[in-house]
Amino acid sequence: MTQERYLLAGVMGWPVMHSRSPALHNYWLAKHGLKGSYVPLAIKPPGLEAAVRALPALGFSGCNVTIPHKQAVIGIVDSLTPAAKRIGAVNCIVVNADGSLDGGNNDGFGFIESMREAKPDWRADAGPIVVLGAGGGARAVVDSLIEKGARELRLFNRTYDHAKTLAQDFGGAVKAYSWEARHDGLERAAMLVNATSQGMVGRPALDIRLAKLPTTALVADIIYIPRETALLAAARRRGNRTVNGLGMLLHQARPAFHAWFGIMPEVTPELRAMIEATL
Ligand SMILES: NC(=O)c1ccc[n+]([C@@H]2O[C@H](COP(=O)([O-])OP(=O)(O)OC[C@H]3O[C@@H](n4cnc5c(N)ncnc54)[C@H](OP(=O)(O)O)[C@@H]3O)[C@@H](O)[C@H]2O)c1
Repeated sequence: MTQERYLLAGVMGWPVMHSRSPALHNYWLAKHGLKGSYVPLAIKPPGLEAAVRALPALGFSGCNVTIPHKQAVIGIVDSLTPAAKRIGAVNCIVVNADGSLDGGNNDGFGFIESMREAKPDWRADAGPIVVLGAGGGARAVVDSLIEKGARELRLFNRTYDHAKTLAQDFGGAVKAYSWEARHDGLERAAMLVNATSQGMVGRPALDIRLAKLPTTALVADIIYIPRETALLAAARRRGNRTVNGLGMLLHQARPAFHAWFGIMPEVTPELRAMIEATL
């Protein structure tokens, strides 16, 4: 089949060269025999609006958005998906046929898919879930867990006010606790999620005592560099099943590729190994 035009998408960020998204999307473009490119777009904050608005004229199908632009883009696109509205951040822009721009957020989708990949019988309503953190990543995780039916979500964050705001925004199932209470807060939990930046390469390990966490609990870290954080290593040693953040990264890209290019791609072992080799 001949293509009408060369397909284009990319990721806007500053800095952006560290992003794994070009490797991911270019793998899928090649795999599906599509002529096109996904490029890193190094955009400084003052140039963001002009860059986003140029997407339709340049023939882009859309782009991903990463640090530090995820919030600023909200005020630039023409419409937001319900998830982007609830989370308060955009990680994916889709250019519509009429040139208008939709802002979406697929991080929560990626998180849920990666849980299901790691544990096919995983359910959000299996028991209390502990989430650590109240930043952008935590908001996507909490949003997706509530959407999937989580009934009790215990939220711990270093800055209590941030946890309280998140709990107010998401309501009912989410209760905010002080950071000091996190060790005891693990009691009877079916799942623990680290959505803080502690444990990321170059940062100190997350400071938490796992003694009260049931060994049946699933322990997830949304960090993917390193592949196994100190939290995941400690959890694995005491018998908990663990999941790192790579699956979330890989799976959030699938609906974006689908929205831009009309094909829902797969996360294959080959793709995972290719990205893992770059971490
Ligand atoms: N796998 C994926 O696809 C994916 C997607 C998104 C994010 N992530 C990862 O998730 C992590 C968080 O990202 P983000 O965008 O949510 O960042 P963010 O918005 O900056 O939030 C950072 C969070 O970490 C907490 N924190 C920072 N320093 C801390 C410390 N010393 N002790 C305890 N808590 C601390 C912050 O608490 P305060 O509120 O007190 O500042 C906040 O809750 C990063 O490592 C990022 O790479 C992964």
